Amino acid sequence: MTASRQDARPIGVFDSGVGGLTVLAELHRRLPAETMIYLGDNARTPYGPRPAEEVRRFTLEAVEWLMDQDVKLLVLACNTATARALDAVRAQVSVPVVGVVRPGAVAAAAATRSRQVGVMATAGTVESGAYPAAILEADASASVFQLACPELVPMVEAGIVDGRRAESVLRAYLDPMLEAEPTLDTLLLGCTHYPLLREPISRIVGEGVAVVDSAFTTALAVEDLLDALGARSGPGSLPSHRVATTGDVAAFVTVARRVFGDGLPEVEEASIEAIGALPVD
Ligand code: DGL
Repeated sequence: MTASRQDARPIGVFDSGVGGLTVLAELHRRLPAETMIYLGDNARTPYGPRPAEEVRRFTLEAVEWLMDQDVKLLVLACNTATARALDAVRAQVSVPVVGVVRPGAVAAAAATRSRQVGVMATAGTVESGAYPAAILEADASASVFQLACPELVPMVEAGIVDGRRAESVLRAYLDPMLEAEPTLDTLLLGCTHYPLLREPISRIVGEGVAVVDSAFTTALAVEDLLDALGARSGPGSLPSHRVATTGDVAAFVTVARRVFGDGLPEVEEASIEAIGALPVD
């Protein structure tokens, strides 16, 4: 449909689990009048180790559920889904789609002085090469060092975001990179789950390394797009947010409260069957 000068329909936000809430929180801050519907595919998380084709299929199924809620714009708040499925989603849906890889790359390119950028991401995102390509597009002179961190998404989904276990898992990933790349001055959290680990990550890399993510720049991109389309909800509109998970609601709420505190809307279940997909192991 063509965008009207005002559009009160919600913005759909998707992630494989709780990670996209870090983007949703920034969207709420930047666009307080907009209604948002979040879907976390917790029943099938993590996406990172899955074959590209499977990530594409899962993402398209989840996005279809969001489209059924009559959203005016989609945010793929998942780097793995963006890296693997952004083009497929754009080809399938009739609304604009914003991914998080390009905004993340812009944030990293803006932060670095040494032009040595580290990217922590899922195995799928690393394998796709999406970040090196996007960072080089933003700054052709940058060098990009990728680090696949398969243990982190399951750890965050289990609610482990600080303490001795988180610290030792993170050190095992980060210490070798820091040793090998002493001039690296920017670390991009290339998975939307990782900002939940920002404190221990920042402690480990120290003050000389800027830790950046895609949340702020993604929210800016969404705002720019709404303005370009004349699709903001009207002044005085009262947003009414929804958050849904394909997984266990209580487990989702426990981790989600770390991002949203008491501001978390009531979490509803959107079962795998409800999104028209088959359960997986
Ligand atoms: N938050 C997703 C991302 O940004 C996590 C992917 C996963 O489920 O492994 O990549």
